[in-house]
Amino acid sequence: MNKIVIAIDGYSGCGKSSTAKAVAKDLGYTYIDSGAMYRAATLYFLDNFLSPTNPHDVEKALGSFEVSFHTNPDSGHQETYLNGLNVDKKIRTMRITEKVSEIATVGAVRKILVTQQQKLGKKKGVVMDGRDIGSVVFPEAELKVFMIANLDIRAERRQQELLSKSELVKLEAIKKNLAERDRIDSSRSESPLKKMADAIEIDTSDISFDEQVAKIVHAARQIIDKQESYAGNH
Ligand code: CDP
Ligand code: CDP
Repeated sequence: MNKIVIAIDGYSGCGKSSTAKAVAKDLGYTYIDSGAMYRAATLYFLDNFLSPTNPHDVEKALGSFEVSFHTNPDSGHQETYLNGLNVDKKIRTMRITEKVSEIATVGAVRKILVTQQQKLGKKKGVVMDGRDIGSVVFPEAELKVFMIANLDIRAERRQQELLSKSELVKLEAIKKNLAERDRIDSSRSESPLKKMADAIEIDTSDISFDEQVAKIVHAARQIIDKQESYAGNH
């Protein structure tokens, strides 16, 4: 079967990563969480007291951190590693969430991570979610999705998610963080978040999780079928 690249971009907390994971599972594709890479880079900066605004610190960081993904044999989930250590839980805490968008504005950090993301998707058959996947990482992606959702709904969903990991965070604090990250991510000079003209927009505010997964899988299958029938006729 022909394999394609599916790029999912959008605002924080719209359901990109959970949807991307489910789409990948359905199609037998690899899911790549590009946000986890920015989060791991942020952990490195914070743990080593490096400042993203100090060029000397940025240079020091660049050659020193390596992000990788490994599948947990027990859960089957893909987990994030920083310099060989499993940091999957650590990178989802508010300590990292509050700083990640600032680190993600640093052009040199983006350059390293984008190169790595492009390598991971070279053989196609990947679903990658982030902010610049359809615009910068895979501008040639066969399917581009842009997800949006109402801020209140996003905050409530994120609060539930954090609660399930025993982290209690006030709704107002989550809302403030989501809005601030949306602002930084959309207005930065390096690869700002924006909807590409060829992306399908999905508003997840009022549809079920299964519905949004089905929409993307359906769109992907249509593209794959079209490619296969074209190949069959030539
Ligand atoms: O899952 P959530 O929406 O909280 O965010 P994430 O996907 O884990 O990404 C965390 C942050 O990394 C975003 O707010 C962006 O600042 C940055 N990011 C980015 O700049 N480019 C990407 N391709 C992915 C994430
Ligand atoms: O990656 P992003 O930050 O865009 O979102 P996420 O980490 O996938 O988090 C979204 C949360 O909303 C997850 O707990 C989903 O299960 C939940 N959710 C959703 O994505 N879509 C719905 N229609 C309903 C709930």
